[in-house]
Amino acid sequence: MGQTDLQPIYLKDYQPPPFLVEGVELEFDLDPDRTVVTSRVAYRRNPAADRQAAGLALNGEKIVLRRLLLDGAELPRDAYDVTDDQLLLHAVPEAFTLTVETECVPRANTALEGLYLSGGRFCTQCEPEGFRRITYFLDRPDVLAPFKVRMTADGHTYPLLLSNGNRVSTQTLENGRCIAEWEDPFPKPCYLFALVAGDLAHIGESFTTSSGKSVAVNIYVEPGKERQSEYAMDCLLRAMKWDEDVYGLEYDLDEFNVVAVSDFNMGAMENKSLNIFNDKLLLADPDTATDDDYARIESVVAHEYFHNWTGNRITCRDWFQLSLKEGLTVFRDQQFSADARSAAVQRINDVSTLRMTQFPEDQGPLAHPVRPDSYAEINNFYTYTVYEKGAEVVRMIHTLIGSGAYRKGMDLYFTRHDGQAVTCEDFVAAMQDASGKDLSQFLLWYNQAGTPLLEAESALDEIRETLSVTLSQKLSPTPGQTEKQPMHIPVALGIVDSQYGSVKSKRRGDNGEFAETHIVSLMSERETIELETERGTLSRAVVSLNRGFSAPIDVRASLSPSDLAMIAKCDPDPYARWNAQQELALTVLLGELTRNDVVEARTLLVDGVRAAVARAYEDPAQITVFLALPSARIINQRLEAIDPLAVHQTRHALRVNIAKELREDFLNVYETLSDRSPFSPDAIAAGRRALRNAALHILTLAQLDEPGLAYQHFKQSDNMTDRWAALAALNDTDTILRRKALNEFASRYSDNPLVLDKWLSLEALHSDPAALDRVRELLDHPNYDSRNPNRIRALLATFAFNNDVAFHRKDGEGYRFIADQVMKIDQFNPQSAARLAGAFQQWARYREGYKAGMRDALERMSENRQTSQDVREIVEKSLSA
Ligand code: TRP
Ligand code: ZN
Repeated sequence: MGQTDLQPIYLKDYQPPPFLVEGVELEFDLDPDRTVVTSRVAYRRNPAADRQAAGLALNGEKIVLRRLLLDGAELPRDAYDVTDDQLLLHAVPEAFTLTVETECVPRANTALEGLYLSGGRFCTQCEPEGFRRITYFLDRPDVLAPFKVRMTADGHTYPLLLSNGNRVSTQTLENGRCIAEWEDPFPKPCYLFALVAGDLAHIGESFTTSSGKSVAVNIYVEPGKERQSEYAMDCLLRAMKWDEDVYGLEYDLDEFNVVAVSDFNMGAMENKSLNIFNDKLLLADPDTATDDDYARIESVVAHEYFHNWTGNRITCRDWFQLSLKEGLTVFRDQQFSADARSAAVQRINDVSTLRMTQFPEDQGPLAHPVRPDSYAEINNFYTYTVYEKGAEVVRMIHTLIGSGAYRKGMDLYFTRHDGQAVTCEDFVAAMQDASGKDLSQFLLWYNQAGTPLLEAESALDEIRETLSVTLSQKLSPTPGQTEKQPMHIPVALGIVDSQYGSVKSKRRGDNGEFAETHIVSLMSERETIELETERGTLSRAVVSLNRGFSAPIDVRASLSPSDLAMIAKCDPDPYARWNAQQELALTVLLGELTRNDVVEARTLLVDGVRAAVARAYEDPAQITVFLALPSARIINQRLEAIDPLAVHQTRHALRVNIAKELREDFLNVYETLSDRSPFSPDAIAAGRRALRNAALHILTLAQLDEPGLAYQHFKQSDNMTDRWAALAALNDTDTILRRKALNEFASRYSDNPLVLDKWLSLEALHSDPAALDRVRELLDHPNYDSRNPNRIRALLATFAFNNDVAFHRKDGEGYRFIADQVMKIDQFNPQSAARLAGAFQQWARYREGYKAGMRDALERMSENRQTSQDVREIVEKSLSA
């Protein structure tokens, strides 16, 4: 085993900042090869700090100190020390102004944290700890200050200079330099600082807030891409209006700017009034973006805008509280998308994402609570648990206290904490105080890792004409948490009957009305409730559990295939119907994997698909998600030991067989849903395309060696959604047309890196061991840029996380290749490398042969002395499984 020199920091060690900052003035002399930053910061001792040390330690990395002045006087060399990551002032007064002049090299900054270049333009990424690569500072989210920024740059190359807040002045000097000054009146932590400098074009709109203030809204893009930013603008204006209507939250400055850049580690960043986006999540037009891209753009644009209140006006006390802003803001963007599109489909997709990504996290060696209690590298904690499970936790509060009390709780949260850096407890306290409901046990959702398992048994009591339901919860141990306490779980449930369909009920002894759905607050390990129904005697009643996915739990209700089919058909909740159909498919898949007899389940599954297809015209988007078989990742979660090849083959065979059986039905769907009207990205049109393309995919599987229809669809489509769907269908075949279409696609879009990413992903996804050789070859393709995180994600992450056949090649080459790439990328971008290293986290859950190869790869990364702290944390924790 390699060295374990991780130095974790702990939530329990939190101390208030030793100093407060009254104001920050930053001056940038921008030059790609040598940027000089001068910061003037007014510090004052924090009266709330526990221990009063004589000196002050400031964070700083990868910068060179040139001058240091305290209250205007140069500090003698023995008054301070400089290390790799700190500037230590040995003794400082109660209050003082520190002037720090440093240098950095944006052109050499390949980590994409701090100040760097993208496409020849300057941009910044400071969350979570990038500001320390710009100047020495108290780089922590609980130090808030107003910022003034002055930038100077060559006016020819960098005519546009943006930062946070209000534009104070801009001028071009005679020597061609241009200067801009910005001032942000809202105190903010330094992770929300941003600047952008370069030649950018923009589109602009004006938004009038509900109190009548006019806001200038601009989106800046590479010249020539203005039209591709129009959809994002439309989303942004709708999000601004929605936040006023639903939360009563108005925008608070005169200007709101958004910039798209090509080199970005994550999706987008909510810097105060200067959001910076990965261009993948901003640019769209019918020829280059799919309907799914449009939907992602809508949700991310809204997400970053919503952060202005949930994240910026109220921020996190420390990075352990990350979910305070992320979970809440994801919940808000999910609500927004549900209102803008189909609420049912939105919910099903959100749950599906959570199950495919967060459930495995919770099951593995990297499991951590929504609020982690320790970390070595905070960049590794921007996880599905913090974001997606965090959103579910907020949703459960919404469910438990009701939407009225939830809104009151939000209002209270803003009045209490505006301008502060707070904790998850503060958020829950506001919800508790506004609702009068006790949420103390509920707080465990922030502190206990793992997915609770809910088991249910129900029994019909014919004498009392009641249905008794016994619910019990179990939470398995996770790393560092062996003992678990029962959680407070809101379980939405109701009765479905084979004869009557949905049946209203009420809890025994309850005087209220009969209702279709009840929210049961499960607080103990085990509880029995009794339901009386409106109709008295029932023929075949089944309890439908966790409707709407009311809690992020794993439900094991041991329902028979016919019970599942009944719920899939009759449940009033679209999520419950979808979930039951998924369970039915899982029953079949798991049965076939273990060669068990599942004839009945299989018949019911196919009947369900056939019936859904017959109703295709009612709600195409919903039928599309209903038809999809559970992914390999979902199947894997139910297996003792994962055999990726067997899972792939079993799933593929079932798809092909269903395709053959229902060929006529899908041909009918394909033909009826054809559409001659011009492309529109709206949800209705997108839903029709989605179902038609799903039908095309199935038809292609029905005739694997004759993919003529898919190729024709590919050639004739006038938009990326259809073109890509046809290509994805062809990619599931082994035909000459597959290669032909992939090549045609690549040459058609040879000058568009974002579209080429779609091509790289399909190449990386091809279910054939030889896909590995192709991926290797593509690393040398002229359009592959190994420094760009989007390329890394499209080719390497897609391969490692989603190609079960080639990544898990029996000879172990897939593992070796990815480990090599992680170590390579780690040299210049540790954050991206660490994400890729996550592909091995489930290693211990695989079958013997695979397991050893994955462990070898992890050990090799662990033994490499150059491995960064980012990758090391993922690797060592994975190995400790
Ligand atoms: N706060 C960003 C978001 O919404 C996340 C983010 C953007 C980020 N860039 C990052 C996180 C870089 C870590 C590193 O949701
Ligand atoms: Zn966010």
